[in-house]
Amino acid sequence: MKCYIPIHSGFCFGVDLAVKAAYKNLDTSTYMYGDIVHNPSVIADLRSKGLGLVDSLDDIPNGKDINVLIRAHGVSESIITEVKNRGYGIIDKTCPRVKKVHEIVADASCRGLDIIIIGTPNHPEVLGIAGWAKTQTVVLRDLSDAQKIIPNTSFSEKGICIIAQTTHNKERFEQVYKYCSSVLPHIEHYDTICDATAIRQEEIRRLSLTVNCVIVIGGKTSSNVTRLYEIASEYNNNTHHIESANEFDVSALKGVDSVLLASGASTPESSIAEVVKCIENYCLKNKLSFELLKP
Ligand code: F3S
Repeated sequence: MKCYIPIHSGFCFGVDLAVKAAYKNLDTSTYMYGDIVHNPSVIADLRSKGLGLVDSLDDIPNGKDINVLIRAHGVSESIITEVKNRGYGIIDKTCPRVKKVHEIVADASCRGLDIIIIGTPNHPEVLGIAGWAKTQTVVLRDLSDAQKIIPNTSFSEKGICIIAQTTHNKERFEQVYKYCSSVLPHIEHYDTICDATAIRQEEIRRLSLTVNCVIVIGGKTSSNVTRLYEIASEYNNNTHHIESANEFDVSALKGVDSVLLASGASTPESSIAEVVKCIENYCLKNKLSFELLKP
């Protein structure tokens, strides 16, 4: 059994910075504003070690020296203002690449441009990005959304700024941008898809074709993990998405001699290692050779 792990695996640098900050601030007066990473095992570990978790600032109990930890996805301008107004300390771990998108949106909006975000509606990163615009924002997931929504929306005469959620699928971004530029005038566009995401998507696309089975490891609510699962499924019909080794059903390996372990930017190395162990045990039990490869 050949078990492939892509070179780009485990936390991306933005998530890594945020998770390290969380472990550095394990005290009862620090609250994560939303899950610091879309990975239930990491969140459970942080919570068991004392870090608070709230989805609204109103859920923070009264107390002294309260700090609010902002995750890599970032938040809207109004949340930052509210944290400051309440006198809380702020540990802002918004990924620098997401911050850059906030700056683009704030600047375009100040110039009167409406904003089109190509991404997943209601995803926390998308809500955060939209919260830096003063003008109209429209969120489009894919080409079919664009074809339905754009003809029925009136936009600012000053123009439109198009950006992407950092973890969005590159092909979808390009399709939607192409459509918008064919029907709308005065467009500025910025490909804000993060390299860490684009490289992983490309690797998965290429490697999924060369193996008999793909296991995508990562949180079910993680946007970048879901994108990887969608891409791998297109190229390999024996593709499975699991959050952790506990969900892994070894029957997926029946008759398989090569498997790809793909993981998202929010998947810790430890989760990948646990799945490797399961595959190794399966090989041992079935008297199969086992080889771990990083192509
Ligand atoms: Fe940042 Fe890219 Fe990760 S935007 S959080 S480095 S996927």
